[in-house]
Amino acid sequence: MKKIQIAIDGPSGAGKSTMAKMVSKELGILYLDTGAMYRAVALKAIQSGIDTKDSDKLSQMVQDIDISVVYQDGRQLVYLDGEDVSERIRTPDVTVGASNVAVVPVVRMKMVELQQEIAKKNSVVMDGRDIGTYVLPDADVKIFLTASVEDRAKRRYEELQEKGTLKQTFEEVKQDMEYRDNNDSNRDFCPLKKADDAIMLDTTGFPLEKSVGMILDIIKARI
Ligand code: DC
Repeated sequence: MKKIQIAIDGPSGAGKSTMAKMVSKELGILYLDTGAMYRAVALKAIQSGIDTKDSDKLSQMVQDIDISVVYQDGRQLVYLDGEDVSERIRTPDVTVGASNVAVVPVVRMKMVELQQEIAKKNSVVMDGRDIGTYVLPDADVKIFLTASVEDRAKRRYEELQEKGTLKQTFEEVKQDMEYRDNNDSNRDFCPLKKADDAIMLDTTGFPLEKSVGMILDIIKARI
């Protein structure tokens, strides 16, 4: 049977994971958070004392990295070298480090290989930065989600507050986001970019939940 592929791209905090989770639940297909993979690479670098901007050492490090994605009660868990690191990849230093390691072409090629492998075996909704442009160029539906940096930083700040893991001021959350926006959009290899055939959705000023129904109608009409 033909596998369904749905690509959701956009900058940090635009609501990609919220939307992807809802779509995956509604359609009963797998959700793959590709950012978690880059986060796992960054965690390994930090634990190994490797600068997350050192492309030579990172290229060497990823040769034998073991990253796997496991699903438990519908939740995605990320394993790094056999250990569940799903919580540890959410700290501010790993967040910024993930944006740095994602610049390195060898790192990206390794992660893309894993992502495409998963999409070959399963119907998926994948979120990331280069899913519609590079990982799944023939995806059935492509969505590009965005919102103002102020709104995205506010959402991220409130999300961390709710989880009880907030360790930064609002200004620091916003600065990290601006740093990542710039890094993710201006790298040479596979930058964050809207695919020509992606549907653009700007959620500035209104709750994401409002647009999910509309997006689901668009998706259902195309699959
Ligand atoms: O989605 P996220 O915030 O967890 O992603 C962490 C970093 O990983 C992000 O700053 C850019 C990078 N990333 C990427 O380059 N390509 C992807 N497909 C997913 C994430």
